[in-house]
Amino acid sequence: MDFRYSSVRKGILLAGGKGRRLAPLTNAISKQLMPVYDKPMIYYAITNLMLCGIKEILIISDSKNMNLFKNLLGDGNQWGIEISYEIQKKPEGVAHAISLGERFTDKCNLAVALGDNIFHGNDFVNLMRSADSISKGSTVLAYPVRDPKEYGVVKFDHSGNVIDIEEKPELPASQYAITGIYFYDNTVFQRINELTISSRGEIEVTDLNRKYLNDKLLNVKIMGRGMAWLDTGTIDSLQEASFYVKTLEHRQGLKVGCPEEVAWRQGWINDMQLEKLANRLITSGYGTYLLKLLKTKYPR
Ligand code: DAU
Repeated sequence: MDFRYSSVRKGILLAGGKGRRLAPLTNAISKQLMPVYDKPMIYYAITNLMLCGIKEILIISDSKNMNLFKNLLGDGNQWGIEISYEIQKKPEGVAHAISLGERFTDKCNLAVALGDNIFHGNDFVNLMRSADSISKGSTVLAYPVRDPKEYGVVKFDHSGNVIDIEEKPELPASQYAITGIYFYDNTVFQRINELTISSRGEIEVTDLNRKYLNDKLLNVKIMGRGMAWLDTGTIDSLQEASFYVKTLEHRQGLKVGCPEEVAWRQGWINDMQLEKLANRLITSGYGTYLLKLLKTKYPR
């Protein structure tokens, strides 16, 4: 599949936040650097942006962890992309973190990925692509979950139209949670400027999305049950996400969330570059996997 023609050119990846539910692990290191099975959590979100055809990515994190992200990801050149960085001094909310990307975005349309969200499924890439091809308004993805209280939750009317989104409601109006990938047109920064701090003390992404909804400019796309959206917010869900990836990778012999592979399949790096990356990782199964890709030329 080729997503080089997507309308969105830039992506912001949020890798800050409090990570309180994972303490004491997060006292030492950012949540998004923790392993989800065989790779750092942030690889999954980066890979999704890359699958969308996005080659310019801004990583937002706190000052404590920024150098760790830089050491891990560099300037992105190794994967044929451009990665830049911006510090969020305090975790003042998802929409606040997005606002720090205004200069980077430079009036383009924008995709925003939360660095702690993991998606999987063939149709997911198609869904992202269709979300990303809409040039006006905002598109968000909703997914049914058993317990939606911890998320932004969609409220529908009797005809199935979206009438509201509520952040972490005590009594959720539906099972549909808003996931952590968002597509915005270039009015997003102006809309964030109009937001006020919520009762949780944050500038909320749900309030931003509600602004689009009030202007009839919010598309909510429903993710089907054949796709997976996994949480990594608690110790248990982090472990479950690792098991999910492990099960798939062991069964198929194909990796989930592997930026080297996506870069190569997109034609952003060539065989020689992939081989070089593989040789640096040869002491783990990861490098062996990359070398095997070159030999088998699994259908693109
Ligand atoms: O995961 C989807 C959910 O993400 C949505 O359903 C909710 O509407 C949305 O508010 C958000 O809820 P969370 O409670 O999961 O947000 P959390 O504080 O965990 O932050 C999500 C990501 O954004 C995480 O990777 C950390 C990053 N972040 C968060 C804040 C508050 C930042 O980079 N800066 C911040 O200030």
